[in-house]
Amino acid sequence: MSAANKGDAGCAIVTGAAGGIGLAAARQLASQGFSVFLVDRDEAGLQTALESVKAGGANATSCVADVTSTEQVNAAVKAAAEWGRINALVNVAGGSGPKRVRDIEGIDDTDWDFVIDLNLKSVFLFCRAVVPHMRAQRYGRIVNTSSSYSRGRKGPVTTQGTRLAYAAAKAGIIGFGAQLSKDLADCGITVNTVVPALTLGEPGSRIRSRFENLPDAARNAVLSELPMGRPAEAYEVAAAIGFLASESASHVSGIALPVDGAL
Ligand SMILES: NC(=O)c1ccc[n+]([C@@H]2O[C@H](COP(=O)([O-])OP(=O)(O)OC[C@H]3O[C@@H](n4cnc5c(N)ncnc54)[C@H](O)[C@@H]3O)[C@@H](O)[C@H]2O)c1
Repeated sequence: MSAANKGDAGCAIVTGAAGGIGLAAARQLASQGFSVFLVDRDEAGLQTALESVKAGGANATSCVADVTSTEQVNAAVKAAAEWGRINALVNVAGGSGPKRVRDIEGIDDTDWDFVIDLNLKSVFLFCRAVVPHMRAQRYGRIVNTSSSYSRGRKGPVTTQGTRLAYAAAKAGIIGFGAQLSKDLADCGITVNTVVPALTLGEPGSRIRSRFENLPDAARNAVLSELPMGRPAEAYEVAAAIGFLASESASHVSGIALPVDGAL
């Protein structure tokens, strides 16, 4: 089945699906014929997201869960497996935390653990929970979300929070995917990573709001770093996720695909 075809593509779990890239990914996968299992800790946002995905005619359901909790992740995957055959897992939930801090001396253990757990441990937890299902059916597509910040960025903290921990976690996701893809290569399971740069979700979404509320000089400085002169829209990242989650991407595994407008 091509990435654009509709049909019964099985169940796709999408984390961080209440807004931004996760919501765009849920919409993209629905358009490819997946039944979409939306996961987020934001109950109200998740309900709105679910309604918008279903409004397009998709089969979709939702599950409130904290992606850093082993118990909640395992329960979410169990519920998804009872709902449909898990053919795809798309880990999008993440972020750099609420505390905007640049210097290492300002990062306490709690800040560090928060960002590492949210971005990296969550990916490990979800992959560990879905792999037995994918192994049993000898088929699966896993797509994780890194960031151009995995290579570091010069200058002041802008739309980011605890940037150092965030860069470490997002680089960790690339290494995690490289290894897991090799471990699962003979099981019919692919593991890939998308590496976006600045990406704006729907109006009112977190990063769009942070970006739009930057002082003009700071916003222009960010734009001047972007070769295309603009951030990505969330649907542009979702299109790459959709390809990697599709049956068509059967011989693509272990890659970290930049979706960054030539950054
Ligand atoms: N937007 C960007 O500029 C950008 C760039 C590169 C990478 N990324 C990465 O892409 C992903 C999505 O980014 P976004 O901008 O769409 O973010 P977002 O903040 O709009 O969405 C993240 C979602 O994750 C959910 N979430 C946060 N903590 C959670 C938890 N503990 N359990 C369950 N859900 C939780 C939030 O409620 C939210 O709905 C993140 O991993 C982010 O690091 C984003």
